[in-house]
Amino acid sequence: MKQILVTGGAGFIGSNFIHYILNTYHQVKVVNLDALTYAGNLENLSSVTRDSRYTFVKGDIRDRALLNRLFVEHQFDTVVNFAAESHVDRSITQPEVFLETNILGTQALLDTAKSYWKLDPEDKYSREYQPGVRYLQVSTDEVYGALGQTGKFQEITPLSPNSPYSASKASADMIVHAYYETYGMPVNITRCSNNYGPFQFPEKLIPLMIHNCLEGKPLPIYGDGMQVRDWLYVEDHCAAICTVLEKGMPGEVYNIGGNNEKANLEIVKLILRKLKKGDELITYVKDRPGHDRRYAIDNTKITTELGWSPAYTFEDGMARTIQWYLDHPEWLARVTSEAYRDYYVEMYQGAE
Ligand code: NAD
Ligand code: DAU
Repeated sequence: MKQILVTGGAGFIGSNFIHYILNTYHQVKVVNLDALTYAGNLENLSSVTRDSRYTFVKGDIRDRALLNRLFVEHQFDTVVNFAAESHVDRSITQPEVFLETNILGTQALLDTAKSYWKLDPEDKYSREYQPGVRYLQVSTDEVYGALGQTGKFQEITPLSPNSPYSASKASADMIVHAYYETYGMPVNITRCSNNYGPFQFPEKLIPLMIHNCLEGKPLPIYGDGMQVRDWLYVEDHCAAICTVLEKGMPGEVYNIGGNNEKANLEIVKLILRKLKKGDELITYVKDRPGHDRRYAIDNTKITTELGWSPAYTFEDGMARTIQWYLDHPEWLARVTSEAYRDYYVEMYQGAE
């Protein structure tokens, strides 16, 4: 039986990951530790709330006392750290919380896992850990910075982050690596490209454009709209993380991507066509400061060494995603009206 601590599990990818592992593995217990920031939405997990394999804990990954208590209580053998401030635009106006959560939160998790998993935590020279334990840091392709018109990010590409968000994620990656080199801690880092799919907060490109399109509102395109991102359906990201947990070599970094480079304008026009709206909704706005021009992932390492490959084509993934938002108007309405923030109180009040 695996005992997994998932942090940030009420967010977009974390909630998809929890659904994925509960559906895929029967012998698993999951604790979801999430601070429920604006991006945490427990309604994403309403269908598993009563699953005996699932426990929700409201809390901050920087709270070391809480982390200690949870490790004692649940004896985790696996940590998957999704918890983060994740939106580049917010990091431009409010960088501090990005550094606090993304860097210091990661370090608190690493320290706690190290002290519980290390066979002799008092001996600074010892590199022996309980068998089968693993810490996985969910990172991003943005740590590599921006590409020109050609080339792809490889795991050996130097880190060159350009936004406060990506700088905080790159810092966290370096701390994770340091815990591998210095303490011999069994860690992995995954660096995935842009995700899309169900439960994504409508501040990110695809759900924002779907929502605005459905409402007949302008679709704000930064700059010329020709920035390129490499898109992956969220379930493929979840499957890739499980592959790394099962087969990844300790200390290794794995890039995750599905070779789907698209310009932003191309994505927006596809959404307009699918929702039968006209191009007049497209509105060019001032560009994001420091906007990275192009990202692209070389996924050779994870595909050849670990045997993972994406199950969804971009066309299939986008069709499913748009259909999901069409089928869940109440989810979008509750997110955009902020009603989703009442769910925790309704569901868990008195349970703490
Ligand atoms: P998200 O913003 O949707 O979710 C983040 C979750 O973390 C939320 O539930 C939030 O409440 C929680 N959280 C924030 N601060 C916390 C704290 N201090 N303690 C506990 N919980 C906290 O993010 P996402 O898009 O699901 O991304 C998840 C992870 O994947 C992030 O680490 C992000 O950097 C990485 N990533 C995202 C993408 C993408 O395209 N969205 C791609 C690659 C990597
Ligand atoms: O590459 C992985 C990263 O992808 C993750 O690490 C981040 O957590 C995630 O937010 C995402 O970052 P991006 O900045 O690429 O995603 P976003 O959806 O914010 O923007 C995608 C592209 O669309 C980017 O070039 C900016 C542009 N854009 C975005 C918004 C919200 C617009 O043109 N208009 C918009 O309104």
